Amino acid sequence: MAIKIIMDTDPGIDDAAALTMALNDPALDLKLITTVAGNVTVDKTTKNAQKLVRFFNKDVPVAAGAEQPLIKEFEDAARIHGESGMPGYDFPEDLKAPLNKTAVEALHDEIMASDEKITLVPTGSYTNIALLFSEYPEVKNHIDRIVAMGGTLGKGNMTSAAEFNVFTDPDAAKIVYQSGVPIVMVGLDITMKALLTPDSLSKLEHMNETGKMLHDIIINDGDNNENGIAMHDVNTIFYLLHPEAITTKDMWIDVITDGPAIGETVGDIRGAYHDGKTNASVCVDIDDEAFNKWFLEEVEKIKQG
Ligand code: RIB
Ligand code: CA
Repeated sequence: MAIKIIMDTDPGIDDAAALTMALNDPALDLKLITTVAGNVTVDKTTKNAQKLVRFFNKDVPVAAGAEQPLIKEFEDAARIHGESGMPGYDFPEDLKAPLNKTAVEALHDEIMASDEKITLVPTGSYTNIALLFSEYPEVKNHIDRIVAMGGTLGKGNMTSAAEFNVFTDPDAAKIVYQSGVPIVMVGLDITMKALLTPDSLSKLEHMNETGKMLHDIIINDGDNNENGIAMHDVNTIFYLLHPEAITTKDMWIDVITDGPAIGETVGDIRGAYHDGKTNASVCVDIDDEAFNKWFLEEVEKIKQG
């Protein structure tokens, strides 16, 4: 039975790659895409999500969400993802309109209407999810778990302490981590290990139209080093489909919401400060070769787009 998921996302180049897998893998049933301001403004992240749904000719609704964080001032990542958020490929422009409801309303309606618990997959800041829990706390019992890209036990990518998605809206992240809903933290600890290698990238380009599209946008991603390009958000989908390739450790995660460490996810790695209680399964290691092999196989299976 396919896993019912909703992606809350800020495409964004790595979000686009994650959406590609979520839209096409038969083991996943993507019921809804909600968008949030993050890599670029929410009008752009929404248009980018619509472009991907159209590229793959899928009938998945898109609902636009929060324009800015709960409290913190909005700061985008256009320097990494380009002004459009998804540069480098001419997508079809005959797009369906987004739903005539907010992301929070769409999330509530989809979750409550589902005959099975839904898995939430946020790959941007968690503003929409925090608003949802605040406005409709009853949805929590209808969510199987949250598999969230964000956070780090090690070095950050916005400050030495904080990762972008949590840094963008630390207040929302704190609400989500304190919600009581089971959460899998897919943080930089594994996403900076499972880089898309230069060899994988060159194979993508000549694979099929989807491979060419991903190659043409991924080569613009500013989040890279000599070992490859970070596909942060794709790790959430890899975790859902191949949890055996990822090592997790349960622990309590606190989110810092002010001061110089704002946006830090602090792990109680010894279980010493929360009476042994835990609120997250944190991804601490990944088989990066398996990730690259799976990434290429996923794209090769896609027959259209
Ligand atoms: O820190 C990486 C995260 O920030 C990813 O979700 C990427 O898309 C950016 O939003
Ligand atoms: Ca993202």
